[in-house]
Amino acid sequence: MNPTAQIIVLDAGGQYCHLIARKVRDLGVYAEVRPSETPAAELAGARGLIISGGPGSVYDPASPTVDPAIFAQGQPVLGICYGHQLMAHLLGGEVKKGDKGEYGLATLDLDATADPMWAGLAGRQQVWMSHRDVVGALPPGFSVAGRTGTCAVGAIADPQRKLYAVQFHLEVVHTTRGREYLSNFIYGVCGCAKDWDPRHRAPVLEQEIRQAVGSRNVFFFVSGGVDSSVAFALCTRALGAERVRGVYVDTGLMREGETDTVSRLPGVAVEHAEAQFLGALAGVTDPERKRHVIGEEFVRVQERVIESRRLLDEQWILGQGTIYPDTIESGGESGGTAKAALIKTHHNRVAGIQKLIEAGRIVEPLKSFYKDEVRQVGRELELPAELLDRHPFPGPGLAIRCLCSDVEAPLTETGDGIMIPVRSVGVQGDSRTYAPVLAIRSMDHARATALINRLAGVNRVICDVESQVPLDRMEVFTSSLTPQRIGRLRAADAIVRRLSHQSGYDQRVWQFPVILIPLGTEDAPDSVVLRPVDSVDGMTAQSVMMDVDLLQKICREVLRVPGIAGVFYDLTHKPPGTIEWE
Ligand code: XMP
Repeated sequence: MNPTAQIIVLDAGGQYCHLIARKVRDLGVYAEVRPSETPAAELAGARGLIISGGPGSVYDPASPTVDPAIFAQGQPVLGICYGHQLMAHLLGGEVKKGDKGEYGLATLDLDATADPMWAGLAGRQQVWMSHRDVVGALPPGFSVAGRTGTCAVGAIADPQRKLYAVQFHLEVVHTTRGREYLSNFIYGVCGCAKDWDPRHRAPVLEQEIRQAVGSRNVFFFVSGGVDSSVAFALCTRALGAERVRGVYVDTGLMREGETDTVSRLPGVAVEHAEAQFLGALAGVTDPERKRHVIGEEFVRVQERVIESRRLLDEQWILGQGTIYPDTIESGGESGGTAKAALIKTHHNRVAGIQKLIEAGRIVEPLKSFYKDEVRQVGRELELPAELLDRHPFPGPGLAIRCLCSDVEAPLTETGDGIMIPVRSVGVQGDSRTYAPVLAIRSMDHARATALINRLAGVNRVICDVESQVPLDRMEVFTSSLTPQRIGRLRAADAIVRRLSHQSGYDQRVWQFPVILIPLGTEDAPDSVVLRPVDSVDGMTAQSVMMDVDLLQKICREVLRVPGIAGVFYDLTHKPPGTIEWE
């Protein structure tokens, strides 16, 4: 059993909501996330509440709110960013639009007081801001504890009621002393006790698995990703290898060496379905259609496996590598909230699997854990670092990194760069658009960002790093997901992964997709785009630089792959450019 959450983070729609809960757990206190509107009575058992940031404005009636009763149950509450404004607004203060926004680094002056919330933190310090609205007038009982040049009400407190709020994001690393603020709140103000350390949880988890499974056996569809592999290994340890079966579906869209690595896990069988997937995808070019076809084929394979192995018999239950953020995104048992900006497209559910889930014949040993914590459990089980440290890889595999085109089209020179007529996906708010890509000659993130902001109809700017012929002699070719193109992408991806691993670069980036686009010459009709990004959870991401030395090595080897004409570098942050190109 997990401990009861001492700290509950109320999700007001902020992209950093999970980060807050993770940081609290890092400090040794078990925290969970709940929808912001959760009734106060349901939260009364926690020692303290934190209201997250969010994209809304307190004056918009559609914006998230909290049950105002939470401020009157004697429980400490900390508001962050939007949470700060919401607390001020609901308690009788005034929130207004600031003269100008404040985004990024700022300097906070925090007053010296005896309040445990600010203990040891007085003075000037770097914080990270992201807001336009500001608190104009304080609610009764509050006083200002800190301010920046732009924001006169940067930190407020009502120590009597143990209510605190900060305009800055104390959960991000750029707020250099953020961890101390959080520690002061959970230990100094809320009086929490240490109760959480994912490193020593394996024996408890194994006991839970034995209890949930009873005398039955467990089967998994393993993907080769961290979560399903750790969940599988835990079940194997808990029940013995003979009672746990894993099936890995080779869709033909996997990376080089992937199937080999996964099939070496004891108890995992490979279901070969390469011909089935590639056959169904032949001639398909539309990105949404690709995803749809893959989802459908996946369901077919799963049905076949379940049928042939009689996995719906009473003696089997389903094991899954669900982790904590998945249960929140899908509105699972924690109450669920649909506010997170992106909900991953999961594979369609097979009817048989749905039935097992509804009947409770399912075991999800990692459903309270964050990804970092899953890795710690994996280390505890002595799983190979190669498996635990791998970057996230999307379920539909290389298919969403291999762009296709219905048309053959020339490039067009504009005053800003060269327009490449492929359809690459971008994200604006909750909606997605497909638009051409602009290529420029310099590795200049600032220029790329300025161009995207200025030019309507461009989601991405890429830099033309190196090519076999000048860009103005290339064109976009009609193309679909052929085995030859997938093979080309797989070869380029393997080179990039090997070189970035050797140089240690893969440990410095969150994810590093390699994308194939149908741009080149008659002899070499494709090019490769490198997309290394930094991110916390994939919802937003920053395009990041790489050493010239590594880039040169990558170009040299990738340009030797038959059929590849050029190497490009994606300079686009998310938003507006998604991580995958689809
Ligand atoms: P985008 O492209 O939307 O991706 O910026 C955000 C993160 O989600 C991953 N991703 C997926 N993961 N199945 C997955 O398991 C999918 O269908 C899928 N699509 C995108 C992507 O790799 C990135 O980390």
